[in-house]
Amino acid sequence: MYSYAFRYGFICVVAVFALALLAPTIAAPDPVERGKYLVGPAGQCADCHGATLMGAPMDPGPPGVPWAKRSANLRGLPMFVTDAAAIAYLETARLPGGKHARGPMPQYHFNAADATAIVAYLRSLSASRGVSR
Ligand code: HEC
Repeated sequence: MYSYAFRYGFICVVAVFALALLAPTIAAPDPVERGKYLVGPAGQCADCHGATLMGAPMDPGPPGVPWAKRSANLRGLPMFVTDAAAIAYLETARLPGGKHARGPMPQYHFNAADATAIVAYLRSLSASRGVSR
């Protein structure tokens, strides 16, 4: 019969291996994959920005509310010169000049990690829709 020490030692070794296998998934998610998830199933940006995220026509909004006729092309985020400006926009809903985007763009307030991941993903998309991503 095995001693307690042996049994607990064995359990510890198994636990350390299990943690070693799980740690990379918990500690370091790929920002581009995280961004793809936030833009896709979680955030559903394609509802307004179109299946290829190249922008789409919008229905008219309520009278008196600033409203865009079209959503923006998100592939590569051409409207932002720097990543920092794009991240700040997704965190604060303020464009570099301080204004909000027109409706129906929601005034999102993502946290820094999520905003950074979304920008990493959208910057990774090539400007043309022919490319698979
Ligand atoms: C309900 C519709 C809707 C949804 C959902 C939506 N957008 Fe938009 N978005 C718009 C419209 C419309 C514009 C254009 C606003 C304008 O021209 O003033 C826009 C503009 C933008 C812009 C450019 C802002 C600017 O004026 O330069 C970014 C970046 C953006 N959206 C990101 C996203 C992301 C990321 C998501 C998902 C997390 C998302 N949008 C979801 C409608 C939407």
